[in-house]
Amino acid sequence: MALKNISERVLSLIKEMTLEEKLGQMTQIEKNSIPPEDVKTYMLGSVLSGGGANPVPNTPVLWREMVESYQKAALDTRLGIPLIYGSDAVHGHNNVCHATIFPHNNALGMTGDSNLARKVGRATALECVATGVRWNFAPAVSVPQDLRWGRSYEGYGQQTEVVSEFATAFIEGLKGTAWDDETSVLPSVKHFIADGAATWGSSQRIDRKALEFDKTLAASNLGEEFAHLVEEGAWSIDQGISEIDEEELRRVHLPPYQAAIDAGALNMMASYSSWDGIKMHAQKYLMTDVLKGEMGFDGFIVTDYEAINQVDADYYKAVVMCINAGIDMNMVPYDYKGFIATLKKAVENNDVTMERIDDAVARILNAKEKLGLFETPLTDPALLAKVGCREHRELAREVVRKSQVLLKNNDVLPISKETTIAVAGKAAHDIGYQCGGWTITWMGAPGNITTGTTLLEGINDALGKEVNYSETADFSERAELGIVVIAEEPYAEGMGDKSSLHISAQDRALIAKTKNNCDKILVLLLSGRPMIVTDEIDSWDAFIASWLPGTEGQGVADVLFGEFDFQGRLSYNWPKTMEQDSFIWNIGDGLNIKETV
Ligand code: GLC
Repeated sequence: MALKNISERVLSLIKEMTLEEKLGQMTQIEKNSIPPEDVKTYMLGSVLSGGGANPVPNTPVLWREMVESYQKAALDTRLGIPLIYGSDAVHGHNNVCHATIFPHNNALGMTGDSNLARKVGRATALECVATGVRWNFAPAVSVPQDLRWGRSYEGYGQQTEVVSEFATAFIEGLKGTAWDDETSVLPSVKHFIADGAATWGSSQRIDRKALEFDKTLAASNLGEEFAHLVEEGAWSIDQGISEIDEEELRRVHLPPYQAAIDAGALNMMASYSSWDGIKMHAQKYLMTDVLKGEMGFDGFIVTDYEAINQVDADYYKAVVMCINAGIDMNMVPYDYKGFIATLKKAVENNDVTMERIDDAVARILNAKEKLGLFETPLTDPALLAKVGCREHRELAREVVRKSQVLLKNNDVLPISKETTIAVAGKAAHDIGYQCGGWTITWMGAPGNITTGTTLLEGINDALGKEVNYSETADFSERAELGIVVIAEEPYAEGMGDKSSLHISAQDRALIAKTKNNCDKILVLLLSGRPMIVTDEIDSWDAFIASWLPGTEGQGVADVLFGEFDFQGRLSYNWPKTMEQDSFIWNIGDGLNIKETV
């Protein structure tokens, strides 16, 4: 599918480039796997930080120095083609300590206001560019079907048109005034396609008995600490098989990609999942005939992390199949020498044609050129002041406030500031629980992991005093209102696949213990998805779905005391049971305070 409107610069570069230089452009390497000088030796086109691949110590300044070291090596090559550095900034520049961490996409969708997504995209772009990152592996345009999927929170909602609207807005935010503006960031629209439609139990990612990742992957041992998660269902659906027909694939999962193309997106990331018996990375019909042909996508397709290795145990065959299917850049991300040698051999054997190589390189260089990288490969250090700045934190606080969904209120909210309050739960005072996965580390983690304000601090600030707080609901005096914060343990990807979405026995016990000490109970749930509360909800006086609010926890307090009314509405159905075929609340549900008192 050769490109049409290619610039003179790109055409002449392709004429001048050696095969090694072309293959280097098609290679993306993980920053922990390469010294900057090898970027020059192998003329690599891109470096990435996977989840948690941070400089030590993890500061915005050291991020910038790290990224610049790779860019300078690339600029020092024979042709000086600029490199593009990629990172997952899926809810703010989330790998970077002190960056603003926004609520995850599902919460953005609950605000019902895609203009907020545009603003979040712009703020995220500024914090990325401050550190030299010009490629963001976002937005996910998943339309999650089964909430047991650990990536449900990466979707804006379960309605295709909502996903299209919010993804378009976020992409426009990443773009800013123009793609070649030096503060624009290339979006990676992911994961093509129908990643949210996999069937439970169809994932082949790990060997559940041996507790090992797929043997073709370098990092094949899960480690004992994950054994209990595997028992709870980890890696049961993520990267599985989307057992839907083409009509449903086109109706439900394709429109957000068309919307992204219409918004000018120049990169897509292929999905680990499979459709029609073929791994998406080898799906020539969908990647080349449909996406590049029928839909006119003239950007480039990047693999997911080490995804080619999953396609076939014979690496040579896997590389040939994926590149010929339409993959243009390989997120290798470790053995770049092995990939380049393999693809070179495939070209020499004519198993991959020079026409396909030139098409891939043209797509990559076209995107770099549209981003203005040839003119401004290095970014303005003054932008460092934007990382975690007050303006961005205020925006994040607004998104938190507007994403809170009030689902029950028996005369509890708005809470009078005279009410005696007791707050319970370790998650009430924990930035890590608020942020969830993809925060500082790949999986995220509880604890004081970065700069921010906890829910408890927000409540104390709103009241101008410290309320009674106990992680374990051990209170010495009664209170009129108990606020119990329960949370999912942070997770990302398949690690968050769960066979049961019931709230935990520990959380039920915490609520009961708090109830012994309070006249009324308000439950706040920090989660990446709706959880099953059918049997418990009747004994609660009020219930708020807070999702994963990020670093600005005071946005929750903003709606507790009547400063602002609730506006969040569900963008996901809320299942009654694990069958997920009947719901206690539906898309669009959510209360305002005045509707309830
Ligand atoms: C991960 C994810 C993808 C992410 C990429 C780079 O495995 O599937 O969403 O962008 O690798 O971190």
